Order: sequence, then C-alpha cells, then structure tokens
Amino acid sequence: MISVPVELGERGYDVLVGPGASRALADVVRSGSARARRAALVTDEVVARQDWFSELDPGVPFTVHRVPAGEAAKRLATVESLAGALARSDFSRADVVVAVGGGVVTDIAGFLAATYHRGVAYCSVATSLLAQVDAAIGGKTGVNLAEGTNLMGAFWQPIGVLCDTALLATLPGREWSCGRGEMAKYTFLGLPSLAELPLEEQVARSVACKAAAVGGDERESGRRALLNYGHTLAHALEAEAQRTGRDVRHGEAVATGLVYAALVARRLGRIDDARVAFHRQVVRRFELWPGLPGPQGSWDHEELLAYMARDKKAQHDLTFVLDGPDGLAMVRGIERSAAAAALDDLEELGSMGEDR
Ligand SMILES: NC(=O)c1ccc[n+]([C@@H]2O[C@H](COP(=O)([O-])OP(=O)(O)OC[C@H]3O[C@@H](n4cnc5c(N)ncnc54)[C@H](O)[C@@H]3O)[C@@H](O)[C@H]2O)c1
Ligand SMILES: [Zn+2]
Repeated sequence: MISVPVELGERGYDVLVGPGASRALADVVRSGSARARRAALVTDEVVARQDWFSELDPGVPFTVHRVPAGEAAKRLATVESLAGALARSDFSRADVVVAVGGGVVTDIAGFLAATYHRGVAYCSVATSLLAQVDAAIGGKTGVNLAEGTNLMGAFWQPIGVLCDTALLATLPGREWSCGRGEMAKYTFLGLPSLAELPLEEQVARSVACKAAAVGGDERESGRRALLNYGHTLAHALEAEAQRTGRDVRHGEAVATGLVYAALVARRLGRIDDARVAFHRQVVRRFELWPGLPGPQGSWDHEELLAYMARDKKAQHDLTFVLDGPDGLAMVRGIERSAAAAALDDLEELGSMGEDR
C-alpha cells in the first residue's frame, strides 16, 4: 500500500493506493469526525452491483444512496434529491458522506458534502482509473448544467481518498482509456517513465503529480492549469463528437490532444521531431491512439478551431499548454494558422484504421 499526502495545510489529507485500500474506509471515516454517528454512501447503480461493494465497511451505521450510472446523473436535481434523503434520515453536520464510484459519483457526492448544512465531511473510494488518478484528487466538485459541463460546483477537500486498485478488476475495458489518457498526460508533468511501472505505482505517482500541482495552487491560477495539457483539443473533440453524435471517450480525446499539442509546439519551434515522436510513443504505451479518432478527414477543422478559441479554460483566444525546452508552459496568443497547420499535421499521421 502506498500513502500519498496531499499537502494543503489544515485541509491536507492522505490518498491510500493499492489493492485492498478500501479496507481503510472505517479509519478514514473516524478520522473525519469522532462524533460521526453515520455515513451516507453515495454510489451509482453499476458500482452498487459489483460483488465487492457489499464488503465496504465505513465502521458506523450507514445508508446507501444510488444514482443512475453515467454523466447524465451529474446535475443539480440529483444533488437535491440526495440532500433530501440525508435530511429525512437525520444526517447531521458531524456525519460523513462517502463517495463510492468513478468521477461522476465523486463530483456529485463532493458537491453534496460541500453544500449540505454548508459543508460536511466527505471521503472517496475511487473505483474508476480516472477517478483514482484524477477526479477524486484536488477538491473540485460539481455538476453540469444544460448550458455546459461543470458549471456549478465548489472547491471542497475530502478527508481522505482510497484508491483500491483491486476494485479496477471489474472496470470495463473502455473505461480504462479514460484514466490512461490522464496518465499519458502526467508523463509530461515530470513522470517520463510512468508507463513502465506497475499499476499501483502508476496510480500513486499520478496522484502525487496531481497533488503537487494542486498543492501549490488550490484554486487554479498557475501551476494547476498545466494539468490541462492536451485538453484544449480534447475538449473540442468531445464537444464536436457530442454535436455530431460520435462516440469519443475523454481519455481517447486527451491522447489525441497531447500529440496535437506537440505538433503545435513543433510548428512554433519549441520542440523538435524527436520530442513529437516521444509524445506519440507515450500515448501508444498507454494503449491509446495518437492520431485523430475515426477515419481520416472525418473531423471538421473549422469547428475544432472555433471550439479551441472558445475553450473556457483557455481564457484568451488560442491559448495552449505547450511543451518546450523548459518543460510545459501556458502559451497565449497562438496564431490561428499555426493551430490549423498542426491539425493538418495530425491528420497526416494517418487514420485510426490504418496503423493501429
Ligand atoms: N473533479 C475533478 O477534478 C475531475 C477531474 C476529472 C474528471 N472529472 C469528472 O469525472 C467524470 C468522469 O469520471 P469517470 O470516467 O470515472 O466516469 P464514471 O463515474 O461515469 O464511471 C465510468 C463508468 O464506470 C463504472 N464504474 C466505475 N467504477 C467501476 C468498477 N470498479 N467496476 C465496474 N464499473 C465501474 C461506472 O458505473 C460508470 O458506468 C466526469 O464527469 C468528469 O467531469 C472530475
Ligand atoms: Zn482530463
């Protein structure tokens, strides 16, 4: 078992990583409040059906609250109905909300905990690879609006996070790609050999990498923004996929976004061909495709460029996190022509069917 501290002063906590980490749940719940009389386990219907779910023991009497599985549940109505259930069960400020699930559940349960009674303790048993290496770490919680994703939320730190890698045994194949995309990203945030490590180490180092970025920058102004590496094109691909009814997973989009960011950096003379090749290699090592998803020529470049210019995290027109001689940096005011040329470069890397 590996314990990774998230250093946030009095809001700091530990992330426990490894097979069997969820057995520490009762200890974490107790650490949150000696007066905790009960716990509310928030999970989704798919997670609740897994054999291992019934073995979870928060060490105090608990209720189980299931939300439908999937992104659609991540909305205010879900939080309202969960809060109503807590109120009816006399859940108090001293009690503890426990998220058991992927990033959808940790985001919902975290936001519930941040707002119920103006804030109660919460902890997470992160059960998807994406939640373990990304979503459950860092204290961002929230829900989507019809107008856009993650538009409502709060910064709310958990009292502990358990990344039980044994629970990943039941995670469907394609869900792995979501977490792998983020791990490919961490490779460029100071973990160049991440792909070669055993799973437990990969998760623990990823957690430490995100924790380090968040630790110095809890509310996202400087270093935390580098966690967005590869995400400018990824968000555009996801938005365009949604508009056109295509099926692209977040991690797959991030993988493409990483290679694209390398191509933009090469266009700007920040990195050389070998470094671009390294980006492609890393993505492949995480079993992801380093080009655009789907058949060649099937993406509308104009639409993608328009999305990238609007990306809310970009803050200005065409801002990217880019690799360079001194590592990653936020680069503003990138010429549209460079971004467009890099899309052509990406297209030239070949279509998915050809060289997989
Ligand atoms: N707060 C943050 O900082 C942050 C960061 C990244 C992503 N997110 C959010 O995370 C969400 C995506 O998270 P996700 O990819 O984990 O999606 P998810 O929570 O929907 O989980 C994916 C699917 O896997 C199932 N599942 C989870 N664990 C399982 C297990 N061990 N065995 C079997 N099935 C399992 C779930 O039921 C679901 O159907 C998005 O809403 C995203 O916005 C948040
Ligand atoms: Zn991501």
